[in-house]
Amino acid sequence: MSREVTHDANGPDVIDPDDHDGDIYVCRCGLSEDKPFCDGSHTATVDEDEGVDYKYENDDDEQPRHRIATIEFEE
Ligand code: FES
Repeated sequence: MSREVTHDANGPDVIDPDDHDGDIYVCRCGLSEDKPFCDGSHTATVDEDEGVDYKYENDDDEQPRHRIATIEFEE
């Protein structure tokens, strides 16, 4: 089983729960390998072109990002 989830953020949410422990960075890009925390993987999204959809595949080290020509939904 797999699922497609669309994310359009290219950076984390920053949470500051108290004054003692520092900020917490929560992943919003969907690429972190340490969810729910940001691990810096969002840097791969900074040069995405506006209006283009991408698919990232973690099991493809040489070409993890692919442009998607069309997204079709089954009726
Ligand atoms: S926001 Fe996802 S890895 Fe940083």
